[in-house]
Amino acid sequence: MLTIDNLSITQGGQQLWEDVSFTLSPGERLGISAPSGFGKTTLGRVIAQWQAPTHGQVLIDGIPPAKTGYCPIQLVPQHPELSFNPWRTTGDSLRDAWQPDARWLERMAVNPNWLKRRPDELSGGELARIALLRALDPRTRYLITDEVTAQLDAHIQAQIWKVLLEETHRRPLGLIIFSHNKALLERVCSRIWIPGRKQKSPHGDGSLPPLNRVISF
Ligand SMILES: Nc1ncnc2c1ncn2[C@@H]1O[C@H](COP(=O)(O)OP(=O)(O)OP(=O)(O)O)[C@@H](O)[C@H]1O
Ligand SMILES: [Mg+2]
Repeated sequence: MLTIDNLSITQGGQQLWEDVSFTLSPGERLGISAPSGFGKTTLGRVIAQWQAPTHGQVLIDGIPPAKTGYCPIQLVPQHPELSFNPWRTTGDSLRDAWQPDARWLERMAVNPNWLKRRPDELSGGELARIALLRALDPRTRYLITDEVTAQLDAHIQAQIWKVLLEETHRRPLGLIIFSHNKALLERVCSRIWIPGRKQKSPHGDGSLPPLNRVISF
């Protein structure tokens, strides 16, 4: 169980989030949609341990994730090109995490030749798929995607979401999906949270109050 416990985040002098609490079970798929600049990316970074909150904590099964070693909460960022070392091939960066086999490359629509190139030699959509594949390391228990499939065409997007949903069932993997695309969220999420500025503080009992709908996939 992933627990977001009373998280507050102030950044650049703005309070983006105040006392946010919710839980996510393995296998659950939570969609979060809010306007541009609201703080979605920042919240994702904090949950994935990329930056510290101003207040509050993130727990896995009741304890904070270890500060060293592989983090079981992985974030695929909105701009995946920024998460690759520009001087190394994407394959080397991928294999720092794990060694996906040919079947995995096929599932994620990754051409093996792309792994011989540096990130600036690939399109945004190609790199997004490699970033997703890297984050699907078998040690990942919770995956956060930040608008990451927005740059893929509809056909590839459908294929990638099919794989991600299969993983939510198989591992099971908990998913947090940040997106402006409400149609996508309605299709893939089991819960959708649309926080409002005046209503952004969930109850603190593990529920999400501004929960507009609950949909089973
Ligand atoms: N490193 C930073 N220092 C100061 N302010 C920042 C920093 N990064 C982002 N911000 C500001 O924090 C706010 C939230 O940014 P964030 O990227 O989390 O929003 P978002 O909801 O993901 O937006 P979008 O939908 O456009 O991706 C914005 O006002 C942004 O300008
Ligand atoms: Mg963002």
